Amino acid sequence: MDYKIISLIQKYRPKTLLDYGAGKFKIINSVSPYIKCAVFDINQEILKQSHNSSIKMIENIDDLINSKEKFEMIICCLVLCNTNEELNNKILFNISKLLIKKCHLIISICNPFFDDIQNTELRIKRYEGDYSNISLYKKNIIYGNNIKEKEDYHRPFLYYENLLQRNGFKIINIYDTDGVNIDNLNYISEHFIFDVEKNNYNDMYDCSLLIKTCPKDHLIVDTCIRHIVNRLEYGQKFNERLVIVDEENPDINIGYSKNDYVSLKNKLDELKKENIIDKIIYCNNEEGFELYEKYFGQKSKKANAKNGQQLFTILKSFESIKTKYVYQTDIDNFFRTRFGDFYKRFIKYKESKAITGFLSNLKEISEEL
Ligand SMILES: C[S@@+](CC[C@H](N)C(=O)[O-])C[C@H]1O[C@@H](n2cnc3c(N)ncnc32)[C@H](O)[C@@H]1O
Repeated sequence: MDYKIISLIQKYRPKTLLDYGAGKFKIINSVSPYIKCAVFDINQEILKQSHNSSIKMIENIDDLINSKEKFEMIICCLVLCNTNEELNNKILFNISKLLIKKCHLIISICNPFFDDIQNTELRIKRYEGDYSNISLYKKNIIYGNNIKEKEDYHRPFLYYENLLQRNGFKIINIYDTDGVNIDNLNYISEHFIFDVEKNNYNDMYDCSLLIKTCPKDHLIVDTCIRHIVNRLEYGQKFNERLVIVDEENPDINIGYSKNDYVSLKNKLDELKKENIIDKIIYCNNEEGFELYEKYFGQKSKKANAKNGQQLFTILKSFESIKTKYVYQTDIDNFFRTRFGDFYKRFIKYKESKAITGFLSNLKEISEEL
């Protein structure tokens, strides 16, 4: 893995390089003779022990950000699979402040597709949970003749893809490094290396994403929500990603599948565990009809509008939105967007001062592509 990262540094030839989470300087030592290098690690002791006088040591990352010093390249190797989701957001936020626009960030993580292999050349002990879960597990790392227990996060690939893209990093390439399953000598991959380019950090802090679904969607819910979140957070980040479930969807016009509430709920719970969505709202259509008076000054106990639209579900979900704006979509919409394009549309929409609008005009988008 280190060799591949060094070859990417050589490919882009940065004049300045920051190693974020440098550990024992394993990678940066070999490039420091010909690049102006700096290192940061939360563990300051390890930095002091690995001292190299030609490398600048950063004690306080906030001071560095405030100093406005920026780097032509940043590497962050085997850090994000060690830290929790909140820290990962913070680390990427810091990196986006420190990296010059259009320059490259190199990230490596343990390859989640092979976490379930029991014995490899580098480690012993496997991850025993489901691939789609996010969880901390213990493994034994082999350092020459020594074996050391270490905790790591298993997270599915989509978590990292979404994390990078919503924080303004466009994935240019992904490499997987070699490895061997020593029980059967089959080829595996130990690590993933992401080569990503810094673009704008487009924080839609005042907008939530709302995806509407019902128990009939249980067969498509997983694929569709992954698609929607992945495409709409391609270069921008919503404040919250919510799913509203219309529990009592009548059978009008929908004959493609049977209601399966339990299956739908299980799949949504998995998506929440994976950090793909933040909140699930269940709407049973049995109480709360006074909302109609609040929105329209009218009384009714019908959940659907005259044309069949699930009006009551939508109004109920609006009550859970904490942001000024909400982008609402049905689950069966497909999106094709360029990086950061959705954010530009959102800004135009805000400038128009309209109360409602239509951001995903596919005709307009395809003309731009
Ligand atoms: C597995 S080591 C990898 C070290 C080095 N990057 C390498 O590839 O050899 C993970 C490193 O991340 C550092 N780390 C953990 N949390 C961090 C954080 N929030 N900010 C910066 N470094 C962190 C740890 O102290 C540790 O040195």
